[in-house]
Amino acid sequence: MLKNISPTQTNAWTKLQEHYKQVQPQHLRDLFAQDPQRFEKFSLHLEDMLFDLSKNRITEETLDLLTDLAEETGLPAAIESMFTGKEINATEGRAVLHTALRNFSDEQLGVDGENALEEVRDVLQQMKKFCDKLHSGEWKGYTGKPISSIVNIGIGGSHLGPQMITEALKKYQKPGIEVHFIANIDGTDAAEVLRLVEPETTLFIIASKTFTTKETITNAKTARSWFLESAQDKEHIKKHFVALSTNTDAVVEFGIAPENTFRFWDWVGGRFSLWSSIGLSIACALGFDKFEELLRGAEAMDKHFRSTPLRQNIPVQMALLSIWYTNFFGCQTHAILPYDQYLRLLPEYLQQLQMESNGKSTDRNGKPVTYETQPVIWGAAGTNSQHSFFQLIHQGTVLIPCDFIAPAQSHNPLGEHHPMLLSNFFAQTEALMKGKTADEVRAELTQKGGMSNEALEALVPHKVFAGNKPTTSIMFKKLTPYTLGSLVAMYEHKTFVQGIVWNVYSFDQWGVELGKQLAGAIEAELLQQKAGNHDASTAGLINYYSQNRS
Ligand code: F6P
Repeated sequence: MLKNISPTQTNAWTKLQEHYKQVQPQHLRDLFAQDPQRFEKFSLHLEDMLFDLSKNRITEETLDLLTDLAEETGLPAAIESMFTGKEINATEGRAVLHTALRNFSDEQLGVDGENALEEVRDVLQQMKKFCDKLHSGEWKGYTGKPISSIVNIGIGGSHLGPQMITEALKKYQKPGIEVHFIANIDGTDAAEVLRLVEPETTLFIIASKTFTTKETITNAKTARSWFLESAQDKEHIKKHFVALSTNTDAVVEFGIAPENTFRFWDWVGGRFSLWSSIGLSIACALGFDKFEELLRGAEAMDKHFRSTPLRQNIPVQMALLSIWYTNFFGCQTHAILPYDQYLRLLPEYLQQLQMESNGKSTDRNGKPVTYETQPVIWGAAGTNSQHSFFQLIHQGTVLIPCDFIAPAQSHNPLGEHHPMLLSNFFAQTEALMKGKTADEVRAELTQKGGMSNEALEALVPHKVFAGNKPTTSIMFKKLTPYTLGSLVAMYEHKTFVQGIVWNVYSFDQWGVELGKQLAGAIEAELLQQKAGNHDASTAGLINYYSQNRS
């Protein structure tokens, strides 16, 4: 179904290896000096969003060859297979249809004998009705008071997306509703949230695709016990617990009423699920209309991705750039640097999206890959990050491609804060690109004066910046639900494209399953206080715990 070809076997790959030798020694400063049109040539647009790729170590030929690589590895057909619901998640025998969750067209999309789009719309209606009741105060807790606190209990894709989006769109938050998140099995997470809320005015959203994830079920049980300590009667659970899941039987077994269950489908991957009922906490926090705007923004990016030629296609080019750095420059990490405090959780969200999807070393033939796949994703909001790890990006020994992301308008235009914030964004990308030569440093120090020539020369090498550090700048007018939807969908499609070219299956996560199994076995030993057969280190750690547990 998906083309099964090692990227290294393509003509484009061979040409890119040769081409790399020509591009690698070139300095971005020179490339800009040679071509006044460089910014225009390497900028891509979608509505008010700007993707400036010009500060990357590329020429037009680079993007042409990378685009050939995408063609040769079968990307156009793969995109169509995804959008039309083919079983491209072959290791789990599933379609991959998160795009159906934000498809407002009247397309027919048959999956498992059902029209997926109709099913999606039914659940969206259910969510809308629920939000309306919640926000109008019609939905009441067991003492008759309206709900004022929402607690989303979920982990991974059932947590990171909703948390990142509600934080990013805090400015749109409905008054009178606070949203909290419990994810970690560490009891501290639940304890600290439960300290902030009241049983009679709190609604728990239990978000779990499988409804078997230990963290979530344990936290949900803790929340239920906490609630029943006050409410006493189990009948009250239905006013305070709802579930978001594909596993409706397990939800009912847990004690949540079927009418309080918002379903979704196994063709929605956990890390791609914020657009499904998993986004209920978002809709509760912002209102359903804002949730719909988020979906519409994602739909705009979907349409662009599906219909734009690869060479002008934003997610495709973003993915190919990452492949260029990973597979030809040997970069092992990629930094996400939002210059917007509201987007501070974006790096964490993108870690799961990209690293859980493409952190694979087996190709679609079941053979070990012979090339690098997903780089480590990391990052933090600017300008805080400038005062922690930017030193290494500027002057360290590793090359780190970075995405700088910022809105032109702030939601909080206090004094000169926003121009000051953006001046840092622009200055950093410029400095990373240009660097500073020894002559420039010398001239600067001489002008400053007060230094012997000897002292000046000793200082020069420490103040030299090589520059030539690649950055991609992403800007948009304002951080709205619509824009955020487009931005997140762009990163989803980027992830998909990388997986196609790297010839891996991006939509399973077997690596995470092992940890789940191992922890289960040791957990039983800890509870029974009976150590099993382990290596010396693990046995030593278990013993340390046993001796110090109380
Ligand atoms: O970490 C593995 C994983 O399966 C993720 O892919 C998923 O988002 C998370 O666990 C939570 O799973 P669930 O929604 O089924 O509780």
